[in-house]
Amino acid sequence: MKALVLSGGSGTRMRPLTHTSAKQLVPVANQPVLFYALEGIAEAEVTEVCVIVGDTEQEIRAAVGDGSRWGLDVTYIRQDRPLGLAHAVATARPWLGSDDFVMYLGDNFLLGGIAEQARQFRASRPDAQIMLAQVADPRAFGVATLDEAGRVTALEEKPDSPKSDLALVGVYFFSPAIHEAVAAIRPSARGELEITDALQRLIEDGADVRSSIVSGYWKDTGNAMDMLEVNRLVLDRIASRCDGAVDAHSEIVGRVVIAEGATVRGSRVVGPAVIGPGTTVTGSYVGPFTSIAENCSISGSEIEYSIVLPGAIIDGVRRIEASVIGRNVEIVPTTRAPHAHRLLLGDHSKVQIPS
Ligand code: DAU
Repeated sequence: MKALVLSGGSGTRMRPLTHTSAKQLVPVANQPVLFYALEGIAEAEVTEVCVIVGDTEQEIRAAVGDGSRWGLDVTYIRQDRPLGLAHAVATARPWLGSDDFVMYLGDNFLLGGIAEQARQFRASRPDAQIMLAQVADPRAFGVATLDEAGRVTALEEKPDSPKSDLALVGVYFFSPAIHEAVAAIRPSARGELEITDALQRLIEDGADVRSSIVSGYWKDTGNAMDMLEVNRLVLDRIASRCDGAVDAHSEIVGRVVIAEGATVRGSRVVGPAVIGPGTTVTGSYVGPFTSIAENCSISGSEIEYSIVLPGAIIDGVRRIEASVIGRNVEIVPTTRAPHAHRLLLGDHSKVQIPS
């Protein structure tokens, strides 16, 4: 079995972060969300991986490399435009050949991996095997209808009136039968070749399409609040480790990872939290569910339940909560009167200030 990882697309809901970087590389507990997918693929004992890339190709390549750090053999295929998940499959068809494959959407986060599902697929070899999860509002997803025996009878992409609360999770197992179905479908109303339509086609042709309900946690990390929730969940499982320097005037409470080259001075850090390499925390409070990436500087500030990307400077801010702070962002005190907010924000930035 091979793996096709989708890392193209545009990521409008994660703007402004995705103006300058790929949405699949937004970090969760200081590791890109895409890396959790690659870990899951390696655990499922799949080694041949093709990553579909778009405009952010260079950044994805620089982050993932040849995949050897996960024991994977990674190649890249460029999809000129994000014309749909089924279009990505068609683009990769020469590489996929006549092999079975797992397709993993690079912005999906699945706690517990995919090893069990891969085992089931290898053992029973249906034409396709999908994963479903119960969600409160299925309208943002592909939605499945099952019969009494649990077989998939219909699939619809982002329906206005969903017929069930079972959303399609972004991990699909396919036999080569999917290629004919992909070749037979036409673009949807949103102009994309939908993998949901190709699956529906397989079902109508009488193919064996199976499903399993995801028992663990799953999230399509579409927006900042989703990222913060996934960050909370991953941090909740970390073990304490201190490879950096903590002075005698600091207090570390609970499970906290302090990376090599990080410095904590005169601060209180309450876990679960991670502080990246080369970051300094001075005279500050870092509260639960906070990930601070590498080479940041936090001084005289309070921050919790937040994600801070590399190189950010936060000085004299009380307090930051439920925030995602981008690369090299500076939040610092004004040096002169009047006491006012002075902002230089990128397009689609969002700032909430107490009135
Ligand atoms: O997350 C699960 C959902 O993913 C499913 O329930 C839906 O049925 C499925 O269509 C998909 O919906 P989204 O609208 O969330 O897909 P999105 O456009 O966000 O793309 C998912 C990933 O695939 C993302 O990492 C970008 C990448 N992608 C997307 C398109 C459209 C590509 O690499 N190429 C593409 O052409």
